[in-house]
Amino acid sequence: MSRSLYPHRRQRRLRTRGAVRDLVRESVLTPSDLIQPLFVKQQPGPDEPIPSMPGQSRHTVASLVERCRRAWAAGVPAVALFPRVLDTIKTEDGRAAWDPDGLVPEAISALKAALPELLVITDVALDPYSSLGQDGVVVDGEIHNDRTIEALIQQAVCQARAGADVVAPSDMMDGRIGAIRDALDEHGFTNTLIFAYSAKYASAFYGPFRDALDSAPRGGTDKRTYQMDPGNGDEALHEVEMDLAEGADWVMVKPGMPYLDIVWRVKETFGRPTFAYQVSGEYAMFKAAGQQGWIDERTCVLEALLSFKRAGADGVLTYHATEAAEWLGR
Ligand code: PBG
Repeated sequence: MSRSLYPHRRQRRLRTRGAVRDLVRESVLTPSDLIQPLFVKQQPGPDEPIPSMPGQSRHTVASLVERCRRAWAAGVPAVALFPRVLDTIKTEDGRAAWDPDGLVPEAISALKAALPELLVITDVALDPYSSLGQDGVVVDGEIHNDRTIEALIQQAVCQARAGADVVAPSDMMDGRIGAIRDALDEHGFTNTLIFAYSAKYASAFYGPFRDALDSAPRGGTDKRTYQMDPGNGDEALHEVEMDLAEGADWVMVKPGMPYLDIVWRVKETFGRPTFAYQVSGEYAMFKAAGQQGWIDERTCVLEALLSFKRAGADGVLTYHATEAAEWLGR
């Protein structure tokens, strides 16, 4: 006899068989929830595997296209591009970021020619082009907010002109979303979406990414002067509120798993398209433990990605996107 206070209620009836569990599952993960970040390089020669991110490489433009075919075939609707440019073109002001003949415009046109329906998201920030590894323009040892915005506007317009579907400012300057929206509209790019890295924390989980791009800060200032303090939650809502008011179409919380509470609060508060970025350090942990046989990579990754959906995210940027989509099948 059941000792339950409520003898008629048995929650376990809902878990008895797979078909019952499937019918009552509240959140599901599908390939169309996933965005694949990818690295593209300017250096000649073959793809370069990234040691701290097993399975990820710095791609040539040609191999990037093939990599994207695989993502698209698995059902991944979007890719986010990050460039590794030649050291010789890096400057303190990062001006190569808006070169119409640069690596990112070249990659966008190659992708649009091969896979016109695949959404191409480009990173708006100066760090890949900055000799100091900073996201903005350094003036007297500080990131100058408004001078940086002038640069970001040019970068975003250059990417939109090359065919980017979505521009994604990851720099955390104040006021950049409105300024970029105005500039895009002025140039006729009214349908180019803005994906704001709104709540981007100053995180140690970005380590492998900075290896991949060789973009670790080398002077200028501390990224904590523009990225958020990991202790703050309300501040994330203020950031998101401003970016939405300035015209952001999608907002992001980054990193992912350590900030699920923020994903939840953002979705609950604003109800707008909200994404989480499961970053390079998170990927590295899954890969390392999986390779050791300490966890089952596949089931752990799918469980982690589902947790973002349960927390309210509309989608997830994850280096596992293509693999996860292949695991899920179509
Ligand atoms: C910088 C940028 C970073 C990431 C994406 N864009 C790193 C940083 O802020 O230093 C990190 C992504 C990852 O770790 O996967 N604009």
